[in-house]
Amino acid sequence: GDESEWQVRPPVVTVMGHVDHGKTKLLDALRNANVVAGEAGGITQHIGAYQVATEVDGSERKITFIDTPGHEAFTAMRARGSQSSDIAVLVVAADDGVMPQTVEALNHAKAAGVPIVVAVNKIDKPEADPTKVRGQLTEYGLVPEEYGGDTMFVDVSAKSGLNLEGLLEAIVLTADASLDLRANPNQDAQGLVIEAHLDRGRGPVATILVQRGTLRVGDSIVAGPAYGRVRAMLDEYGNELDEATPSRPAMVLGLSAVPGAGQNFIVVEDDRMARQIAEKRESRERAAMQAKRRV
Ligand code: GTP
Ligand code: NA
Ligand code: MG
Repeated sequence: GDESEWQVRPPVVTVMGHVDHGKTKLLDALRNANVVAGEAGGITQHIGAYQVATEVDGSERKITFIDTPGHEAFTAMRARGSQSSDIAVLVVAADDGVMPQTVEALNHAKAAGVPIVVAVNKIDKPEADPTKVRGQLTEYGLVPEEYGGDTMFVDVSAKSGLNLEGLLEAIVLTADASLDLRANPNQDAQGLVIEAHLDRGRGPVATILVQRGTLRVGDSIVAGPAYGRVRAMLDEYGNELDEATPSRPAMVLGLSAVPGAGQNFIVVEDDRMARQIAEKRESRERAAMQAKRRV
């Protein structure tokens, strides 16, 4: 579209790393929430998305975070997460050091061509060895700036809240240094389904990420095989949103079905069009499935 209408959008940051290295706790600390406490077995099993605001050099900056699971079973989610993001924050627990999913995560980020910021977490622990983590990651090509490389390492504690501002600053600096983050908010929205589930009371609930345009309550959308009019949108605190601009994650209510994570959504002219497109997609998918079964 017309480049003059493009506006700066917040960076989308995927938080990745080995299981239990503190990704969710870190995001909880950044937005004063407590998701960790509600997770079954303390294991993240889906992708969550949140936006936080910070102040860097006197101006407010927003950052969108996508939380990913570290359990080895969720490779596909990590791959998808890194593909839809601008920056990856690699969380490494300073007591554990580099572990298998640390390596897997950094490989996803490299494959996606996404700059990496390393958060060396659990620095509050007596066994923490942040120097060792730097040495280990250097072997994988992530050389700390203080060693003459170009990767920012930030020591943090999600538990005590130590140096979280330092991490946010590193993210903003990385975004400003290496990325041109702009999008046109003045067009029909499109974006990605981050996660979706069926809620007993509210029906299908989809967490979406707007990538272009502005999504508004009342818009007709198609998301994978699901369609519908946006009945309501909620932010990460459960507050209602009237609209969602580029890089904003939102929970969307009003869909006909539960779309798949990673599927795209688009805004279309009206409900009827939305349904037609969704039905066409579904029959195409069904045909593809049947063809596959025949082979
Ligand atoms: P998965 O999503 O399951 O991969 O785990 P995660 O990386 O999101 O880790 P999570 O946030 O669930 O934290 C795992 C455990 O480490 C929890 O018991 C946290 O309370 C603890 N933890 C996280 N960060 C810190 C920290 O900075 N210091 C200490 N001491 N404990 C922490
Ligand atoms: Na965990
Ligand atoms: Mg987690």
